[in-house]
Amino acid sequence: MNRFNRSLAQTPVLGRFLLLLFRAKTAFGYFLRPLGNLFRWLFVSRETTNFTYDLEQTNKQYLASLIADVTGEKFDVIMAYIDEIEADDKLRAHISEATTASDWAFMADKQVRFGRRVGWYAFARALKPKTIIETGVDKGLGSCLLTAALMRNSQEGFEGRYYGTDINPKAGYLLAGNYQNYGQILYGDSIASLKEFDGPVDLFINDSDHSADYEAGEYEAVGDKLSGHAVILGDNSHCTDKLLKFSLDNDRHFVFFQEKPKDHWYPGSGIGISFKR
Ligand SMILES: C[S@@+](CC[C@H](N)C(=O)[O-])C[C@H]1O[C@@H](n2cnc3c(N)ncnc32)[C@H](O)[C@@H]1O
Repeated sequence: MNRFNRSLAQTPVLGRFLLLLFRAKTAFGYFLRPLGNLFRWLFVSRETTNFTYDLEQTNKQYLASLIADVTGEKFDVIMAYIDEIEADDKLRAHISEATTASDWAFMADKQVRFGRRVGWYAFARALKPKTIIETGVDKGLGSCLLTAALMRNSQEGFEGRYYGTDINPKAGYLLAGNYQNYGQILYGDSIASLKEFDGPVDLFINDSDHSADYEAGEYEAVGDKLSGHAVILGDNSHCTDKLLKFSLDNDRHFVFFQEKPKDHWYPGSGIGISFKR
């Protein structure tokens, strides 16, 4: 028994009980707010996966700072990209209308919230990629942000095209209107689509089957199609180390951004970032 445990054992019972109460209050304090958000969410949303929320303001600034460091751009430029997409009323109206027209959305689900995808957008604006691939499209929220970035890049003289992959033939209903002019969805198994894809790929986003082996399989399939300074964004890096391993094996740098959702119970996922200097 060490000195601390010995002195605790000698503390009177009431003292130990008060200490337990104090420690419980401190620990529960971390869960109370998310728990409140959870109860509210149960009744105002029908989301079962791929949860949507905004990021806390400081979290967005940390994200901008990290992207600035990876891309060699100024912090203010990256932050301006994030502000640009958040203030994009046309995109918000497009998503809001399509979501409201779909039969699943309920109360809070009709709000347009981008989460970590604002980081995907900022990368697409900063890198001016000619080819973006996002595996796993779902409704097409990422598709919309990425094609919105390509639309603005094009107005500045940098052309690029987006390819989303999804095994679900109904995926991607948000990729419509003008956004559709900047990209398309390749339906079928992601790895099969990647193997058939004619590179080079400048920005690759992994977000399909979230099992560790499948994620690693995607990096293997796209590996030799990456352009010299391609960036990979992993949507599974809060769960697996597959992007870190791929980066170490292929002489690439790896950093991780941890999301902090605003007013939501979800602890957040993140963005694994693999890049070459
Ligand atoms: C987390 S969601 C993608 C979310 C999307 N990137 C976004 O920004 O909202 C995962 C998607 O991957 C798709 N998926 C799952 N397994 C797949 C596979 N083997 N090949 C292609 N798509 C797959 C699912 O149908 C689902 O739409």
